Amino acid sequence: MNEQSEKIDQIIEKFKNEKGTIIGLMQDIHGEYRYLPEEVLLRVSAELDIPMAKLYTLATFYKSFRLEPVGKHHVRVCIGTACHVNGATKIVETLERELGVKSGQTTEDNQFTLETVNCLGACALGPLVLVDGEYHGKIDQGKLKKLLNKYR
Ligand code: FES
Repeated sequence: MNEQSEKIDQIIEKFKNEKGTIIGLMQDIHGEYRYLPEEVLLRVSAELDIPMAKLYTLATFYKSFRLEPVGKHHVRVCIGTACHVNGATKIVETLERELGVKSGQTTEDNQFTLETVNCLGACALGPLVLVDGEYHGKIDQGKLKKLLNKYR
C-alpha cells in the first residue's frame, strides 16, 4: 500500500470515527492533493456509500474546491475593486501572455496555474499577486517580470 493510499484510508477512517461532514472530508482530501482527484472521489463514494453525483455537486458548488490538479506554482491575482483600480487587469494580461494560459488554466509543463481571486484582504497592497501562498504587493510590470523569473 502506498503512502497516498494510506493517507486516504486515514481520511476515510477519521470521517467514520468522528462522524464528520462530507464537506470536511472533501476539505481533507483537497488539503492532501490540492485538488479532488476523480479516483479518490470514486473510492470515497464506494467506501462511504456517498453518491458520486453528490460529491460532484459539492465540488462544483464550492469555489475553493478544484477538480483539476494545480501546477507546481499556484499564481493568484487579486481582481477585487482596490486591486482592479490599481491595475490588476494589466497584471493578469501580462501573466496570461507570459505563461501562455488563460486564467483558470495550468501551463502544459505543469509549472504554473494562473487564477484570479476577489480580494485577498490586503487591499492597501494592491495590485496583489499571491504565489504559492506568498503575498507580493504593489506589483508593477517590472516587479512582475522579476517575480516570474524567480519561479521559472
Ligand atoms: S481588492 Fe485586492 S486585496 Fe482587496
